This record gives sequence, structure tokens and C-alpha cells, in this order.
Amino acid sequence: MELPQSKIETIKLLGSVDCDNTYSSSCRTRNTHQYPLLKKILRNRFEITQVLGSGGSGDTYLAVDLDLPGKPHCVVKHFKPKDSNPAVVPIAKSLFTREAEALYQLGNNHDQIPTLFAHFDEDGDFYLVQRFVDGYDLTQEIIVGKSLSENAVFNLLKDILEVLAFVHQHNIIHRDIKPQNIMRRHSDGKVVLIDFGSIKKLGALGANVTIAVGTPGYMPSEQAKGKPKLCSDVYAVGMIGIQALTGLQPNQLQEDPDTEEIIWRHKAQVSDALADVIDLMVRDRHSQRYQSATEALQALLSTKLPPSVTIAEPNQNADHKSLPLFRNFFLLLGMGLGVTTSLVILVLFYAFLNANTSLPDQPTKFNRLMDIPTNKSSDQKEVCKNNCTIEENTKSQIYPHPVKKSQ
Ligand SMILES: Nc1ncnc2c1ncn2[C@@H]1O[C@H](COP(=O)(O)OP(=O)(O)O)[C@@H](O)[C@H]1O
Ligand SMILES: [Mg+2]
Repeated sequence: MELPQSKIETIKLLGSVDCDNTYSSSCRTRNTHQYPLLKKILRNRFEITQVLGSGGSGDTYLAVDLDLPGKPHCVVKHFKPKDSNPAVVPIAKSLFTREAEALYQLGNNHDQIPTLFAHFDEDGDFYLVQRFVDGYDLTQEIIVGKSLSENAVFNLLKDILEVLAFVHQHNIIHRDIKPQNIMRRHSDGKVVLIDFGSIKKLGALGANVTIAVGTPGYMPSEQAKGKPKLCSDVYAVGMIGIQALTGLQPNQLQEDPDTEEIIWRHKAQVSDALADVIDLMVRDRHSQRYQSATEALQALLSTKLPPSVTIAEPNQNADHKSLPLFRNFFLLLGMGLGVTTSLVILVLFYAFLNANTSLPDQPTKFNRLMDIPTNKSSDQKEVCKNNCTIEENTKSQIYPHPVKKSQ
């Protein structure tokens, strides 16, 4: 899918160069001339500590929130468009504002989208502060030359589509789905969708406004023409799936010259069921694709993976989900058996004690329980021989009273 040169230039305008996310990288070594915000305190509250990335509409920093207990980390995005073209600046500004609005709307209601903490201007510059995601981005999982197993890719696509379905339900197109903009959280292994700086709310812009925003390779043709749809995001997710299965980057993949569809199956070990779903995610014609993340997710979940690909593999996210289930089951079983055994031993011990401490002629609870006859006086024996029930017999021993012989 060759993009016209003019489109590529427009896209480069708003594309991003993310910095390594390990906090020990070159980010730290960047000087304060290039990033004058480093070490500054914004609003008397957010102290900028590191550079995380630099995109078309500004820079992203790691900061600490001095107002909160424990001074937790947060992420500050500084609006600073690289292109000073007067036609571009207002568009970039409106994207920045929309990022804040989207985070406010979505982040408050979904755990896998960062929450917006603040959105303000200071000294004429605009800032956006959001929750820090402690994790790493998917470029560390989807590595060139390394193909992931079908099971891992299935789970990855499912995880991404679940969050994206929530975004699409709000009629918001993310427009920049790619491994750099998806993080895996350390605490629970869940994926978190970041960088809402390219979003488009359906119906928000006039019909005459066409701007191409996105990243080549993950951007379908209609988006490159400035007419993105919800299914443009589905295309990007499909491309991530192909990248993960083949170990090839989007620009290393070939297209069928007749159909313009991506040729990739022969480069991957994948079942037809999953490959068919991915193919329908990356169809060149948007009308032939799943129309939203919800549709793609349903199709993905309806594929029945052959048993061979559901075997547990080490280091795959879903595999360690089933382990705690088994562990818990055996733990509970063991606890149950232990408690029952202790109870039985206690009862037997109690009964044994009782048997040993009773007077020789008295029936013990144990004797009654086991129906063992005790030594009785000859009179009592006489009476009982004729008309006592076991119950009466017992009572008479505890509270002796004359028993009339029946006539
Ligand atoms: N909420 C966040 N938590 C942790 N890291 C983040 C967060 N938001 C962004 N980052 C890091 O900063 C980089 C740049 O941020 P991003 O929002 O993608 O802006 P852009 O791509 O426009 O520069 C990301 O690739 C990621 O490594
Ligand atoms: Mg980004």
C-alpha cells in the first residue's frame, strides 16, 4: 500500500519518536537545552524528572506529584508542535485538547486507559497530566525476527480489542494504535492503551476538513486519505497481530499486486481460523473489514483454537492464568481433608476419655453410642429383661426409679 508522498509528509508532521521507556536510557542524558522543562516544577506541584518521548505535538515527561503522599509518579505532556506552520498549529492544538477530553471521558471509566489528573496552561504553554503506567510498551514483546506463538497472539489481540471496544463504544477513533502506544502494566499484566493525541470523535470535524494522522504501516488507506473510521483502528490491531506472528515489521510485508491484500500467512505458524479473522481485520477495503473492535472481538472469540495451540507455554500471558486455579483447587482440597481428619481424631479422643473416666457400672456416651451393654445389678437385669427399652434402661440408671412389671 504505497502512500502518496504528500500524505507521508502530513503524517510525519504528527508522527512521534518515542523514547525508550526503561528510564535508564538515552532519555536521561538529554540536556536541559533540548528539554527546558527538565527539573522544573509546574503549578507548584508537578516536578519534571525525565523525558519519555517526543511526538509531533509535543514532549512527554515523567514527573512526580509533590502534593500527594508518597509523591507518586505521573506523566506530563507538554504541547509544543514541531511544525510552526500557521495552518498546522491550530490542528495540533485541537488534537491536544481532544486528548485531554478523551482521557477525561474514557480514563475515568476504564482501568486500562490512563486517568487525566490535570489540564492547564502556564506561561502560555499547555500541559496535560495523566496517571503513570508502571510497565513497558509492546515493542518489548513484539520484536523483529521473533515470532510469538498463536496462543500468545490470540490473547494479545483479545486484550487490545477489549479496551478498544470500549473506546469505539464512545464513537472515538484512536487513530494511532501501534506497539509503542500500548503498554503492559507490571502489576497485573494487563494492557493499557495510551496516547490519545490523535483521536477523532466521529462527526466532530466538518466534512471539508481532511487531515491524515497516524503511523505508516498501521494506517489503512482511508485513514491516509484523511477519512478514518472505527475500522481503521481494527486494521492497526490486525497489523500488530501479523507483526507478532511473523516477526516482521509492517514495512517488511508484501502485498498482492492484484488485490492489494497483505501476503503474510506463509511467514507464520497459524491456524486458518485465526488467520481468517486477522485477514478480515486488515482488508484493504474498509467495507470488507470488521466495522469496530467489538465486531472483531466477537469474531476472534468465536474461533475455536485447535487443542495443540492451547497447551500451556511458559511466559505467555494467558498460560499463567489457569495455574492459580489448579493451585487453589488443590489447596482447598488439602485444607478440607486436614480439617475433617482433625475433627474425627478429636471425636474419637473425646469418646475415649469419656469411656475411661466413667464409673464401671455407668453407661458411657461411648457405650451408648456403640450400643455396648454395661454390668447391671441383678434386679435391674431382671426388670430390663422383661420390659425395658434401651432408652428406659439408660434413664433408670441415671435416675433410679421403680419400674412396674407389666401384668
Ligand atoms: N501514562 C503513561 N504512563 C507511562 N508511560 C507513558 C504514559 N504515557 C506515555 N508514556 C510514555 O511516553 C511515550 C510518549 O507518550 P505518548 O503519549 O505516546 O506521546 P507521543 O507518542 O505523542 O510522543 C510513550 O511511548 C510511553 O513510553
Ligand atoms: Mg505515542
